[in-house]
Amino acid sequence: MKITAQQTKIEEIQTPALVIGYWQDQLNEDIEKLDKQLNNSIKQAIKNKEFTGELYQIKIISTLGKSFQHLLLIGLGKQTEFNPEKLRNSAATAALAIKNNNFKQYATNLHTIKFTASTEQKTAAVVEASILALHHFTDYKTTDRDKIHIVESMTLIETKNPALVEKTINTATTIAQATCFARDMVNHPASHMTPLTLADIAKKLPKQINVTVHNKKSIEKMKMHAILAVNKGSSIEPRLIVLKYNNGRGQPIALVGKGVTFDSGGLNIKPESSMETMKMDMAGAAAVLGTFKAAAELGLKVNLLGVLPCTENMINGSAYKPGDIITAYNGKTIEIANTDAEGRVILADALAYAEELKPRTIIDLATLTGACIVALGHEYAGIMGTDEKLITELINAGQQTGEKIWQLPLTDEFREQVKSDIADVRNLGKLGRDGGAITGAAFLNNFINNTPWIHIDIAGTAWALEDKHYLRKGATGYGVRLLINFLQNTTR
Ligand code: BES
Ligand code: ZN
Ligand code: ZN
Repeated sequence: MKITAQQTKIEEIQTPALVIGYWQDQLNEDIEKLDKQLNNSIKQAIKNKEFTGELYQIKIISTLGKSFQHLLLIGLGKQTEFNPEKLRNSAATAALAIKNNNFKQYATNLHTIKFTASTEQKTAAVVEASILALHHFTDYKTTDRDKIHIVESMTLIETKNPALVEKTINTATTIAQATCFARDMVNHPASHMTPLTLADIAKKLPKQINVTVHNKKSIEKMKMHAILAVNKGSSIEPRLIVLKYNNGRGQPIALVGKGVTFDSGGLNIKPESSMETMKMDMAGAAAVLGTFKAAAELGLKVNLLGVLPCTENMINGSAYKPGDIITAYNGKTIEIANTDAEGRVILADALAYAEELKPRTIIDLATLTGACIVALGHEYAGIMGTDEKLITELINAGQQTGEKIWQLPLTDEFREQVKSDIADVRNLGKLGRDGGAITGAAFLNNFINNTPWIHIDIAGTAWALEDKHYLRKGATGYGVRLLINFLQNTTR
């Protein structure tokens, strides 16, 4: 969808559909103007209780020959209760209504509605949410393709600050498209999105990003036996993707992403209902790839290091087994208590490797535990780590982007629970899945020495079980907007 800014009086805009926000029980200047033009049909609809302005309510009024052929009112609820996330949801609801009614173009001034947020924030919210809402993954649909409606353009009506709005449209579009790029990788079936595919995608990132792909031989040479162990049951080779983007000063920020392209559970095989969506177990890696793409395209003044361990977790006669003991990249031994806790195993090598390259901080994103979904549902990602200031900064970034995060307590009791009787660490807490999101993080902590480190468990937030506002059922692209916001804040 092409998004542009246009300096026009709202009542003179030429468009098939004009989208206007409406506060519950409260007229505003624009509405008054438009209502006059439409012979009071807005007031009439309100009087007849066809429309109240309740949050996310939609009303389409045909204008019978005006420069805008339809008026789409979107209810914004109470002005005092409004916030950027509600603006995103409103823009998404409107965009979907535009799409479902098969309008090819529309115009709106939703980014100008009055509440406590800057023009930049409001414009970004409208642009990002509209792109994300309209991004359906249809690559594999062959029948009825003509029924897939495509919205070609959105015009933001802006008279006060067109230069700023145009600039923000560009930035927000880049970030939203990088989020869709991450979503697509996750939505592709595992047979089409293997470690080799991820490596190919990484190699095609913008040229400012330096990409090194380690194949199995190279991973063997580096003695990353944890990645190799998880890969043993798969007939597809693993890859370790290393990304570097240097456009700032000082040590880089390392982003590490879990890239399990399919998680069958291994010999501790998953029950059928849990296995169905396990192509999504590389959402951490996808989020990091999306973040690099956006960072490079925006020319962010930062230094970044990316480390993505990629493999399937499968079963054959060579598969790794419960009871196996393996030596990770940093020399620590891991007792495999459960082959389905494979994410932490591959991250062991990746985190230790990342730290060796001396980053200033390490942030990992991983669809690590079902326990995190039990704890926080699909609304909040879990965050744990060794640096409270960084945790606060990421939580704040999440509040700004609507990617909600909740801290769980990573304390020594949980570190105790992942100590092994026979090796250094166990990949399953002594109490099994109890406190599982935290014991997962406690395990990872063994592969970090002194570098400030943050772990974000995105098992619940990476995948939407149903359509909701600007999320489409399936991959959410969670993490791209969050990390970009965090990086923008660190360079400011
Ligand atoms: N990939 C899963 C976690 C997951 C579950 C992600 C549901 C998204 C949705 C992970 O590898 C896993 O299987 N974890 C186990 C750990 C357990 C064996 C300690 C889990 O959560 O059950
Ligand atoms: Zn697993
Ligand atoms: Zn997994």
